Amino acid sequence: MTKAFVVGHPIRHSRSPMIHGHWLAGHGLEGAYEKLDVAPADFPTFVRSFAAQGYAGGNVTIPHKEAAYLAVDRRTPRAEKMKAVNTLWVEDGLVWGDNTDVLGFMAHLDDTLGIGWEQAVDTALVLGAGGAARAVVAGLQDRPIRRILVANRTLTKAEELVRDLDPEGAVLAALPWEEVGGAVAATDLIVNTTSLGMAGQPPLALDLSAARPTAAVADIVYVPLETPLLAAATARGLRTVDGLGMLLHQAAPGFARWFGVTPQVTAELRALVEADLRSKA
Ligand code: ATR
Repeated sequence: MTKAFVVGHPIRHSRSPMIHGHWLAGHGLEGAYEKLDVAPADFPTFVRSFAAQGYAGGNVTIPHKEAAYLAVDRRTPRAEKMKAVNTLWVEDGLVWGDNTDVLGFMAHLDDTLGIGWEQAVDTALVLGAGGAARAVVAGLQDRPIRRILVANRTLTKAEELVRDLDPEGAVLAALPWEEVGGAVAATDLIVNTTSLGMAGQPPLALDLSAARPTAAVADIVYVPLETPLLAAATARGLRTVDGLGMLLHQAAPGFARWFGVTPQVTAELRALVEADLRSKA
């Protein structure tokens, strides 16, 4: 029986077992997908020993993505670019690491806004400069978007992200947090990657009254599913992209590697996870 895991610290609230469990059952596979709580000090040893414990691989979540990047033997170019790993597997005795957050975000954006949406996007505005922002920016960079502004409370982190992902500054530019409000009117896509708006955190206070009527607003926060930012966008008649789709889509490549079947992100799967999120809200 093939076994996979999601490793984090804490890990209690992870929805990944629900997603992979749904796919295992749907494909009639005899596999298992387990939650593992591993403290940071034990994580490097875990990466070296999961294969011996009978696991084909697994997902890595907070706070281990950077440590996983450092601990693996081989990385995909995407993981290399992100300097973070969220998916592990073994090949010829070597531990490989990939980062599927980029694909997850973009697949959900394509699904929600429709293929070709980027043709109507001249300028995108990304809020935040953490690991999630890197994945979002890297995904957007693959599309012909003329300008991608990265705004962060700590400006130096936004500048570092821009230097890392676009050394020539051809498309990316860092924007001071105070200038976000003024930039709204000139953007076609706004993406929140900060923790603002998450349950227990203050909302992201962004005035959308000057936003273009054609603009779309995405949030990678999925607890709650409708963040105050998305609610404000809906109230203004703007298109919205929620955070749950990214979680569902980033899971698919790992499942395909460990269990050998490419799974689909269906409305049924979404409804299952959504119901669980709502029941615990
Ligand atoms: P992740 O890897 O999930 O992106 P992270 O690296 O902790 O998580 O990044 C969190 C992001 O939310 C950062 O951009 C952070 O801004 P700073 O770099 O200035 O810390 C942003 N963030 C968190 N709380 C914030 C707040 N109260 N106001 C503005 N930005 C906030």
